[in-house]
Amino acid sequence: MKKISLTTSIEVYASKDELPEKFEHLLDEAKKGLTKSYAPYSEFRVSAAVLLANGEILTGANQENAAYSMCLCAERVALSAASSEFPEVQIEAIAITVENKNNPVVAPAAPCGACRQVLSETEDRFNNKIKVILQGESGEIYLLNTAKDLLPLFFDGTFL
Ligand code: THU
Repeated sequence: MKKISLTTSIEVYASKDELPEKFEHLLDEAKKGLTKSYAPYSEFRVSAAVLLANGEILTGANQENAAYSMCLCAERVALSAASSEFPEVQIEAIAITVENKNNPVVAPAAPCGACRQVLSETEDRFNNKIKVILQGESGEIYLLNTAKDLLPLFFDGTFL
């Protein structure tokens, strides 16, 4: 028997003005995008802003449906918008933020497993690491060097 140890290091910032300027701006864009969330059922708003290698920023917000399984996560809305508008351009970073009027989120909210898988695929597709910036409504901000830090045992096309 042997053991494998997996470690992740996360940069933790006390406030957004300590972040590198381009990520502070990206987080601001994500916060603005919260107004585009359609979340009448959960009332949990999520917004993601992606920064492309060409400097473009695209946002996506969660889109819910009375048929709950149809709900779209903000991260995948933003990644799909980027892939549709700029299919050849790498994604450098994604900032994700949330708002829950019923239970204010005071810690970074991390993306769901499905969104982690799509982020991992996007890294493989363009052969680059995507920085991930996470903040709740307030509180500390996490900066991860690569989306794969959120999904250590990822599934990818090499298995197929
Ligand atoms: N949601 C996201 O937009 N991203 C995630 O990574 C987790 C969950 C949305 C889906 C649904 O509209 C609401 O949050 C509650 O699950």
